[in-house]
Parts: sequence; structure tokens; C-alpha cells
Amino acid sequence: MRLFACSDLHIDYPENFKWINNLSISEFQQDVIIIAGDVSNNIKIFKSAMELIAKRFKKVMFVPGNHELWVKGTEYIDSLVKLHEIQRILYDLGCNMSLYHSTELIVCPIFGWYDYSFATVSEELREVWSDYYYCKWPLYIANTQDICSYFYGINPIQAPDIPNGKTVVTFSHFLPRIDLMPNYIPQKHKIKTPKTVSAVYKSHITEISEQYCWKLDPMRLIYPVLGSARIDEIARRYHPQFHVYGHSHVNAECIIDGVHYINAALGYPSETNISYRELRQII
Ligand SMILES: [Fe+2]
Repeated sequence: MRLFACSDLHIDYPENFKWINNLSISEFQQDVIIIAGDVSNNIKIFKSAMELIAKRFKKVMFVPGNHELWVKGTEYIDSLVKLHEIQRILYDLGCNMSLYHSTELIVCPIFGWYDYSFATVSEELREVWSDYYYCKWPLYIANTQDICSYFYGINPIQAPDIPNGKTVVTFSHFLPRIDLMPNYIPQKHKIKTPKTVSAVYKSHITEISEQYCWKLDPMRLIYPVLGSARIDEIARRYHPQFHVYGHSHVNAECIIDGVHYINAALGYPSETNISYRELRQII
């Protein structure tokens, strides 16, 4: 049995749908795949994508990304109602959002959200970041910290005892640490930014440059919404050898304090400068 990983499939793009559809039907029948979120914000497309993947692999492991929780313009009252529908779809397909184990492997999803632990969110980011407009939360979730508490609360309080000899792989949609972002990101990869971006950056960088040595790059604007250091704390309870993450779309891997971090995002079709667009084998 092999373990593969991918994230940020954004299968609404025909090229990405074709990429999934072209995966062999027979080659991966004994294998497990991690899908680390952001398959689609459209529930029908999400369902058809997961059906395609479930047919190709023995087991599919999934955590929701922020795009799965977009509800503006849909029939869902809020993002958590949609999350429950996603759970139902996955259950029907035999996919997992909970711990999976085999004789040699443990794979564990880590739920989370961004909590601004990587950087302070600016007003400019609040204006352009789609989650602020497309997600909708029930009344008992009043702010970002409440969203985080909800998702962190899905994770088990205590990790199970891990028998010796098993390979442990954790995965999250959001980044577990900001130092996974490479120092250099190709300029083609830019988010929609306000016209005042250079001014924004100057003030933003003044605030945190000593910590991260950022360059004047629009990508840095979204660092506050890339993830949370808490995700790393939770993942390390399992003593993983590998942690797979998505969301940034920037393919990268490195080993930090004994954990091998891997981003194998498919990303948008235009992002060939930051994505290999290959199915990544973990073990
Ligand atoms: Fe994302």
C-alpha cells in the first residue's frame, strides 16, 4: 500500500477536472490518498470530484478547506450546515474525515482555521479576502477565534497511543507554521490586492519584518490567513513523521524538528510556476 497526497484541487477549472479524471482507474486500488481541502466551493462539483477520486483509491482521507465552507448564493443557511452535508457525502462514498490506520500506517486529519498567529490582519486584507464575504457562521460563532475553537474542538483531546513501527502522517488544509513559506515566491503568483498595496506593505512589514525578513511581495499580504501555529501543536501530539498541508498553493517541502512537511497542491491551472501538478507519493 502506498500513500499519496494532493490539495487545492479547485476542480471547477476544466483543466483540473481533466487532471483528476485522467488518473488511472486501476493503478491506485490498493493505495490511500490524502485530499487536504479546497476541492470546490460548489457542492455538486465537490461531490462529483470525490466520487471520481473514491473510485480510484482504496481509501480517501479529507479535511475541508476554506472554499468548501463558502455558502454565499447557495441554499445553505451557514457554513457549518454545509460542512455537515459534506460529511454526509463523504460517509456515503466511504471517505474518511477521521483517523485511519492500517498495519503499517496511521493517517490523521487535523482540523483548524487561521487565527492570525502568523501576522496581524490588516484592513486591506479584510477588504479583499473572500472568506470574509462567502463564509457565514451561526450566531454562536462571533469572530475568528470562535471559528478556530470550533475546528480545533473537532480534533481529539488526546492522541491515541501509537504502536512502534507505524508511520504516522498528519494533514491539515491550513499551514501549521509560517516558516514553511519559501523566502522567494515567483512574482506571477499574486493575489488580488488593493491599489495601495505598496503603502500597505510598508506599514505591514515594519510591524513584523524582524521576525520573518519579508520581501515587498503582495503574497505576504495574505500571511495572516494562511494558517495557525496551533495546528502544528495539535499535529505533534501524534508524533508524525510527515505532515501534509495545502492552502498556499506553493509546492514545498522541508524537515523541521523531525517532521517532514509537504505541500503538494494542484492549484490553479495558471500556477505552474509554484505547482508541479503531479500526484505526490508520500510513502
Ligand atoms: Fe484554502
